[in-house]
Amino acid sequence: MENIFANFDLVLRAFLLTIELGVVAGVVSMVVGTLLAAARVGPIPVLAKAGALYVTLVRNTPLLVVFIFSSLVAVAAAVTSDIFNNTVRDPERVSRTLNAPIVGGLPVVREWSAGNRRQKLYEDAIRMLRNSILLSEHQRRLRSLMVTSVANSEGKSTVAAHLAIAHAQLGRKTLLIDGDLCRPSARARFDIRGAKCLCDIAGTATPWRDLLKRNEAIPNLDILLAGCPDRSRADLTVNRLIEMLPYATQEYDLIVLDSSPLLGFAESWRMAAAADGVLLVALAGRTNHKALVSVLTTLERLRAHAVGVVLNEVRPDLTNGYYYQS
Ligand SMILES: Nc1ncnc2c1ncn2[C@@H]1O[C@H](COP(=O)(O)OP(=O)(O)O)[C@@H](O)[C@H]1O
Ligand SMILES: [Mg+2]
Repeated sequence: MENIFANFDLVLRAFLLTIELGVVAGVVSMVVGTLLAAARVGPIPVLAKAGALYVTLVRNTPLLVVFIFSSLVAVAAAVTSDIFNNTVRDPERVSRTLNAPIVGGLPVVREWSAGNRRQKLYEDAIRMLRNSILLSEHQRRLRSLMVTSVANSEGKSTVAAHLAIAHAQLGRKTLLIDGDLCRPSARARFDIRGAKCLCDIAGTATPWRDLLKRNEAIPNLDILLAGCPDRSRADLTVNRLIEMLPYATQEYDLIVLDSSPLLGFAESWRMAAAADGVLLVALAGRTNHKALVSVLTTLERLRAHAVGVVLNEVRPDLTNGYYYQS
């Protein structure tokens, strides 16, 4: 039964793509045809010959043959483009092929400003994501959740910050740790000035609690900055972070840990193994499907618990409208 739906889905997508390509091919052939017909009476001999040949061909070929031929070309192009597109796109298809559930989808936000309609949609989707994770992980007592991705700029920090805020809004004590040692972003996002980072106190006896920052506008949310982009202190900083996590989990209902991507950053794998759960952010239509599968397999080998994948910047044309309402 599942196969029937899988094939139906594929046929439907190929059909839609065929229509799109058919329209594009029709417009292109009209433009080329008009140019060739005009060139038939022009001064350039090669173009004049091509134009004459084109006009003879069009006059002598039945319309039905042209239609069948162009449809076949469009179908072939549609199927080929689908086969070679190896990015994470359709949530239904992804959840069938990945060893982890799709726990949510987030819409594109063109302008980040409170009250913006798209941002409200994003925040609604984050609340759904929060509920979906909390409900499905209820029995595990998920106390620390790392937010990561395959590569940079896939939306980790944005998801981590909004998820931490959404959790704090439930009235539960929440700690957001900016654990991206290479490209920290929480300092700018929450306008934190002059605060020390975990990397400043790594290897010293200074308590981590001294670094906590409260956000007056968001009750129940504390923020801790981990990183300075000094690679020589990365290991020490991660040691300190992993050491403090069990203590922090006793004081907070949830710790959201923002991080560097998994590919190319050893510290992210160490953090993933230390956290109770790992949420992977994938960019719809951009994140490589194979890379995501390989990351999930490695997480499993490290006995890290992947709670699921959230698809970011989902557009209705990529998802048949699921996970997104405009
Ligand atoms: N759903 C979205 N729609 C539009 N822009 C987004 C979305 N999610 C993230 N972005 C933007 O993408 C950029 C990278 O996001 P960020 O969260 O910093 O990624 P990462 O932490 O993975 O490097 C930022 O400019 C952010 O505003
Ligand atoms: Mg980031």
